Amino acid sequence: MSSGRFQELSGNRRDRLTQEEFQAIREFLYRHTGIVLADNKRYLVESRLRDLLQSHSTSFSQWISYLRADTLPAEFRTRLIEALTTNETFWFRDAQQFELLQNQLLPKLSHRRPIRIWSAACATGQEPYSIGICVHEARRLKPGLKVEVQILGTDLAGSALQIAKQAVYSDLATARGLSPELKQRYFLPHPNGWQLKPEVRRLVSFQQLNLLDSFAALGQFDLIFCRNVLIYFSPELRRQILERLAELLLPHGYLFLSSTESLPPGLNRLSPVIAHGVRYYVRNA
Ligand SMILES: C[S@@+](CC[C@H](N)C(=O)[O-])C[C@H]1O[C@@H](n2cnc3c(N)ncnc32)[C@H](O)[C@@H]1O
Repeated sequence: MSSGRFQELSGNRRDRLTQEEFQAIREFLYRHTGIVLADNKRYLVESRLRDLLQSHSTSFSQWISYLRADTLPAEFRTRLIEALTTNETFWFRDAQQFELLQNQLLPKLSHRRPIRIWSAACATGQEPYSIGICVHEARRLKPGLKVEVQILGTDLAGSALQIAKQAVYSDLATARGLSPELKQRYFLPHPNGWQLKPEVRRLVSFQQLNLLDSFAALGQFDLIFCRNVLIYFSPELRRQILERLAELLLPHGYLFLSSTESLPPGLNRLSPVIAHGVRYYVRNA
């Protein structure tokens, strides 16, 4: 992009979005992802857009007019969506859920061959890989236990999925939620940090998927993790997606939301359970 154009945005005249422009971005994001941007996110949007425009040869006002007409070229659309979404994640987030999975649910479901687990909105992979590490730990700690799993990680953001597929994490990323023992047991040094060992990686496959689109073709699951993503959606959309997730759970299958999320009332297919200090939801038969 020309430096003059960037100055237009970053200089005095154009370093803020007008309310109408902010509204156009909000509508765009809602239409394509279901994410509802609160009023107080205007500053965040401005700063992320500024970063994005620095790397593109198009102008700010051009983007806004494309947005309004819903004609933003596909590549820019992807970049804009990825710039506006949050891929924050870390290892064993809500650790008690993983303890429950490893010690209770995997043994309980071990007759299923394979146990099918879906990490919906898996960001850069820490969630499905934490599940994979639990599987190895369950086998290691109970040598007689035969557990076979198939873990699917999906996300809207292709750039996050690329990181997930490479499974290479920096010192900082591996320091978040991973104990030194597990890091030593399941990671190998890599020029860019630490790479997860193939024995865990091969349990997980990744696919790009927007939760607004149909996901019935994924088949049925014993367990679904859908954590820290529905919080960004409107209550109505949240309900619709939860209904569709419940349809994909096998009878008596389990749904995990994050520890700070809960199910809206009136979702008849799912019943809350609290066990070992963890709340999760079971698909009614
Ligand atoms: C905050 S991260 C949560 C990651 C992980 N589940 C966790 O709890 O640590 C939210 C993820 O949701 C993804 N996301 C946002 N909207 C989505 C949509 N409509 N469909 C699929 N994924 C979406 C984002 O790309 C991001 O990677």
